[in-house]
Amino acid sequence: MYPLGLLPLLQAWVPEDAASKLAVAIPGVVFLVLFWSLADSNAESREEGDPECLPLSSLNTIGPFFKTRFDFLARGFQLTGQSVFQFNLLRNKVIVVSGESGRRDFFTSRGLDLTEGFKVLSGAIPMLPGITSDLQTRRIALIHKRLATAQSSDRLSHLVPEILNDAESVLRSWGTSGTIDPFTHIPALLFQTTVRCLSCHELADDVATVARLRALYDTLDTSTTPASVLLPWLPSPSMLTKLYASKKVYDIVNRAINARIQSGVSRDDTLQMLVDHEDNKLVIVGFIMGLLVAGARSTGTTASWMITCLGGHPEWQSKAKAEIQALLSEYSAETSAGSSLKEQLASIPLEAWENRMPVFEKIIRETLRMAQPHTAMRRNMGPETYINGIRVPSGAYVMYPFSDVHLNPQLYPDPWKFDPDRTESKASFGYVGWGGGKTLCLGQRLAKLQLKLITALTLLTLDLNLVDQTGRTPNPIPRPNWNDSLTCKPPKGSCLFQFQRVDQL
Ligand code: HEM
Repeated sequence: MYPLGLLPLLQAWVPEDAASKLAVAIPGVVFLVLFWSLADSNAESREEGDPECLPLSSLNTIGPFFKTRFDFLARGFQLTGQSVFQFNLLRNKVIVVSGESGRRDFFTSRGLDLTEGFKVLSGAIPMLPGITSDLQTRRIALIHKRLATAQSSDRLSHLVPEILNDAESVLRSWGTSGTIDPFTHIPALLFQTTVRCLSCHELADDVATVARLRALYDTLDTSTTPASVLLPWLPSPSMLTKLYASKKVYDIVNRAINARIQSGVSRDDTLQMLVDHEDNKLVIVGFIMGLLVAGARSTGTTASWMITCLGGHPEWQSKAKAEIQALLSEYSAETSAGSSLKEQLASIPLEAWENRMPVFEKIIRETLRMAQPHTAMRRNMGPETYINGIRVPSGAYVMYPFSDVHLNPQLYPDPWKFDPDRTESKASFGYVGWGGGKTLCLGQRLAKLQLKLITALTLLTLDLNLVDQTGRTPNPIPRPNWNDSLTCKPPKGSCLFQFQRVDQL
């Protein structure tokens, strides 16, 4: 089935009074189905070798799992007193693992599949079966292969001035002084540059379309509810909103692809690379729709926290600035007369951005340790397997919360302290900021480049003063909220930047 057809079909065929009857009937059906699912899941029994069960009913797991996942998982370990426990999400068995051998088995087990786990337990990407969900393994592999091409040294070198150009326009749109919320303004900036890097110039040059796409992806986030994830086939209001937003994103992306193909005009961007490979159109749409949101969310969150942490730690801000100034004086001496800051930064070669910024590397690493509230999700698509001696049946879901390693005081003393000088943990899989074992981030090269370029331009362009809504300096800066599993934003207004432009762009 191709659910995109569902919405127009409903609008076209359901008369108004029938629609209102449906509005009453649907919640009733939803309730009955939910009741059946919950009752059924509670009846499941525990077998020999299975992990300890969470002593909570299914009704008491769904809300906390989606709304306060960090607290929920921490409570699970506490209530069971075990390093591995299980609970039921409706009819799905979910096993949560922790500890050194638990995470080693988790990241290396052959049968554990990321896409299948993500599909059921997360569900925030646009859901278009065959395009962004229900993708066959071969199509996913092809998208990953194209992502590697999109990050070749040649492509990334081309992207350096383009990212700086976009970032400069966005910074300029903030004015010469004022106050910004880093958790709104910086993700918007990263969204713009991600559209540039992963799609085409026609979309990235159109500020209104970029804003529309961002709003649609935000709608997809907010309409990801327990019902839309666990019962995606039920026409709940959140599912219909998701469907509508997905269809709109699809239309925008599809229109841009068609226009490029029909024009026959070749341009220097990622869409052209995809078109030139003559891939199936669904691969191109899936690449852009899926990676755009995956990339922009992670880089946006990381950049917000990175710049916020630098705002709260002037000594690290100075070190970062000194590192970039040193590269500027080495590479931009000839171009600097009369050239803008973005042009000077663009004259630093890719090799230096990638390999000669140890301070930025440390800052990125520490930011990801503290402010990446990820819970890795997998489904066992192979035969029964064992994690830390505990049986994981075929078809079961398995999770590993990154807090288990990144906020572990034994591995990272005083874990909420931002300290890029920390010694690296020697424990097995002691740092998983870019994944581990058989699942490593495939967009790492692009993500790091964007983080470095945008942070460098921002720090050298703006004088930043971190304040709360009363104008006082927050000391210490607020902790990342790990219960907010996408953005880990602090409470609204607790962290703002007063800025003053110091470099004329
Ligand atoms: C700061 C930004 C980013 C961070 C911190 C990050 C982190 C991660 C992590 C931790 C994983 C493994 C997840 C798991 O084990 O459950 C992952 C996977 C992945 N990332 Fe990223 N990521 C970032 C940006 C990007 C970007 C920009 C792209 C694409 C352009 C991307 C594409 C992917 C893909 C395709 C995978 C799945 C790999 C697979 O299925 O084997 N990421 N990322």
